[in-house]
Amino acid sequence: MLNIILLGPPGAGKGTQAKRLVEERGMIQLSTGDMLREAKSSGSEMGRRVAEVMDRGALVTDEIVIGLIEERLAGSDGAGFIFDGFPRTLPQADALGQLLDRLGQKLDAVVEMQVDDAALVARITGRFTCGSCGEVYHDVTKPTKVRGVCDVCGSTDLKRRADDNEDALKQRLMEYYKKTSPLIGYYYAKGKLATVDGLAEMDEVSVAIRKVLDKP
Ligand code: AP5
Repeated sequence: MLNIILLGPPGAGKGTQAKRLVEERGMIQLSTGDMLREAKSSGSEMGRRVAEVMDRGALVTDEIVIGLIEERLAGSDGAGFIFDGFPRTLPQADALGQLLDRLGQKLDAVVEMQVDDAALVARITGRFTCGSCGEVYHDVTKPTKVRGVCDVCGSTDLKRRADDNEDALKQRLMEYYKKTSPLIGYYYAKGKLATVDGLAEMDEVSVAIRKVLDKP
């Protein structure tokens, strides 16, 4: 059983690759972005509090996201976890280490997906997802086979995210470089870091990630 983190800026392809690993290996994807979007659409008090923060591209408090991960880790049992979009700060990384210790588990690898900032604008502004099954698409690089219909579940509920615009993306990138990129050094020092080229074709990125995971 492997526990891994997918680390990279917005649009690096974390969600796309996490979904492939879920299908191929039965791993459990823990995306704090998806959890927060669920809270937003549930109309809960917490959802209302985080909506404004997320829509302008800032980070939600460590306390909230650590709480979400703690809940999911306690209730899940499977072929390993893929942490997608978590941790995003050094306190979150420390908290994850403690949570895994408590469960008697370890972190196996941190896969840094390296991309060029210029490519991210095109990726983010072309993205849409299925509101029903969560499949991720792109206007150019991954359109649906039938316009307006999800390839996976047939739903016509295809959506664009409120924070997928150039202004929010600038803020999200700023947050990434200020608060999340120090995790690259943090996990390098722990001997966990592996880097893949996130600009390669989706299938090539999957092959590179498989190599990291299957390394003896
Ligand atoms: P979150 O949902 O985690 O968003 P993000 O990190 O900004 O990442 P994205 O989902 O935008 O990108 P991705 O890397 O998954 O790319 P994707 O595979 O979709 O977070 C959203 C917000 O929630 C944050 O801003 C914050 O407010 C809050 N939040 C979440 N977690 C938090 C935390 N831990 N702490 C505090 N706040 C938190 O791909 C993008 C597009 O490119 C797609 O259209 C895809 O089809 C395409 N694509 C993917 N790979 C390729 C490829 N190889 N070649 C060509 N196109 C590709």
